[in-house]
Amino acid sequence: MSVEARDLVAEFAYRFGRAPTISRAPGRVNLIGEHTDYNDGFVMPAALEFATLTAASARSDRRLRVYSMVMDETREFDLDAPGAASGDWSDYVLGVAVMLEMSGWPLSGVDLIVWSDVPIGAGLSSSAALEVSVAHALLTQSDQPFDPVTIAKICQRAENDFVGMRCGVMDQYIACCGVAGHALLIDCRNLASRNVAIAPNLRLLIANSGVRHQHAGGEYNLRREACEEGVRLLSSMLGPIKALRDVTPEQLEAKRRKLPNLIYRRCRHIVTENARVLAAERALEAGDFAACGRAMNASHVSMRNDFEITCPEVDMLVGLAQTVEGVYGSRMTGGGFGGCTVSLVEASAVDKTSQILTDGYRIATGLDTEIFVCAPSDGAGLIAV
Ligand code: GLA
Repeated sequence: MSVEARDLVAEFAYRFGRAPTISRAPGRVNLIGEHTDYNDGFVMPAALEFATLTAASARSDRRLRVYSMVMDETREFDLDAPGAASGDWSDYVLGVAVMLEMSGWPLSGVDLIVWSDVPIGAGLSSSAALEVSVAHALLTQSDQPFDPVTIAKICQRAENDFVGMRCGVMDQYIACCGVAGHALLIDCRNLASRNVAIAPNLRLLIANSGVRHQHAGGEYNLRREACEEGVRLLSSMLGPIKALRDVTPEQLEAKRRKLPNLIYRRCRHIVTENARVLAAERALEAGDFAACGRAMNASHVSMRNDFEITCPEVDMLVGLAQTVEGVYGSRMTGGGFGGCTVSLVEASAVDKTSQILTDGYRIATGLDTEIFVCAPSDGAGLIAV
């Protein structure tokens, strides 16, 4: 049992006087495929060692009591009268409980303690880790099965319909289904996935810009609307398409002049990004890390110029990483407007890369970056206590 899990058991005994089960769900880093998930496209994330742990023990009534060790706050809800979102961290907990019940999984009341080391607001999916670990805990305590893909969709619904963030399914999917040592190529249309091994000589190096732009949520939803507008306009020219997934780069180019320039550029990011995800997966499978890195670099340019979701600080980190020998590729990861970059790095180049990013970022921006070198971990599950 990890130190964190032991602490959680002790805290639970102190607060609730019983022994809990401990559910774990990880944060994620996305290697490539940004904003493609809600366009029915492809993504290639990996689960992180950073995770949210949820200690849980059933109650005999229908109350949900949850203490967050991170926030040092307690919230209490009645599952028979859950109420609406309140705008704080507990929305993710209550939202998941409400959506599980609405989807046909009756729950018993539960006492919960949540703890997390997923950096919050860094674009590493702390919210999906919380949702999925709580879902796992609630189902375990209610003697219900945990079907990973189904639960990913329910947690996404909690975020879409309860919290009000129109995210795709990537983060919840990888939190449920991650496989140690691998990234997952996920087809967000049919929700099938394939494991993509990360070769032992490679490292995923994450650099946190420490920047989070205020308008991130609003801008995210605006990007989604632009994609929907693209689908509307293109359907009238290409026939009934359901999503940008159905459009090839060649088809888009052929209709370029008939689209408003902004919509064209938003669509171009998505259709070319889908192609890059598939190219990156083929390259990793073939051991052609340089080709994978080129796809990552091109993805960053597309996010910066066409989708316009990067910012000067993450552009700086990416630019610095791309100068280092032994770095195959580097790009922003996650929803955008700040957050983290991910670089595909030879193990032997990790120290040098960290140093160059740390020093270069401080000189250029006056800010400190935090570096994480991560090994892909497993998705949601119970921790033995
Ligand atoms: C956020 C969302 C995901 C996905 C990414 C961008 O993390 O939660 O669904 O859209 O942004 O790729």
